[in-house]
Amino acid sequence: MSKSRDFSSNFHENDGYTGEKLVYPAATRNQDPILQVLKRFIVSDFDQNEDENQLFLEIASGSGQHLAHFAPNFPNVIFQPSEVDSNLLGSISYYASACPTKNILQPLLIDIRKSFSNYGFKEESLDYMYSANLIHISPYECTVGLFQNAGDYLKSEALMITYGPYSKDGIITPQSNVDFDTSLRARNPSWGLRDINDLIKLAENNNVSLIDTVEMPANNLTLIWKKD
Ligand SMILES: C[S@@+](CC[C@H](N)C(=O)[O-])C[C@H]1O[C@@H](n2cnc3c(N)ncnc32)[C@H](O)[C@@H]1O
Repeated sequence: MSKSRDFSSNFHENDGYTGEKLVYPAATRNQDPILQVLKRFIVSDFDQNEDENQLFLEIASGSGQHLAHFAPNFPNVIFQPSEVDSNLLGSISYYASACPTKNILQPLLIDIRKSFSNYGFKEESLDYMYSANLIHISPYECTVGLFQNAGDYLKSEALMITYGPYSKDGIITPQSNVDFDTSLRARNPSWGLRDINDLIKLAENNNVSLIDTVEMPANNLTLIWKKD
């Protein structure tokens, strides 16, 4: 097992967390299309020994459904969910404990605006970072934190995967995404779709590059970012 962070005590059952199991309809719909993309980019060697498990950190796990769907497909990867909203930890913990392959750790309370050093991670220790539907449904400081932490805490050539709707060259398409952006900004002026060009600049300032853009159902994209 990777010793980048001592998480051996984090495989316990669902004790200490309260909250019901949540099911987000959107996560139910998009989890399999995202899994198909992950299968192209996660290198999971079934023959590797137990000391070489890779660490996959999810930011903003929400209900916890995504990792529950992904983890059984990559038994040699250890999945670490996290959330800033403590009310969601019970649901995430439920899914982690119920995972048949037992490779989802109990969730961490992580605010992506803070450096991962606050959570015990060592620099250049993560094999994958992943976040779905965070970038447009949080203040831009969260996106800045996401890329700063990716630059500091991903291993060299490791990947970050982000999923959601984005604008490109300042233009949002189609109209349903324009309407979605308007509704997000009405709910919270600091939310809204981010432009891929801005993200590329932010990433490059943190030694991270966009290496692939995958079109997804419902006018979403999965962006694949690679640490230099
Ligand atoms: C739209 S939900 C997405 C949940 C899940 N990833 C999904 O796709 O179903 C956005 C999530 O971002 C989380 N979030 C907001 N601000 C955050 C922050 N500063 N650090 C980490 N997560 C944050 C919220 O608590 C919320 O669960």
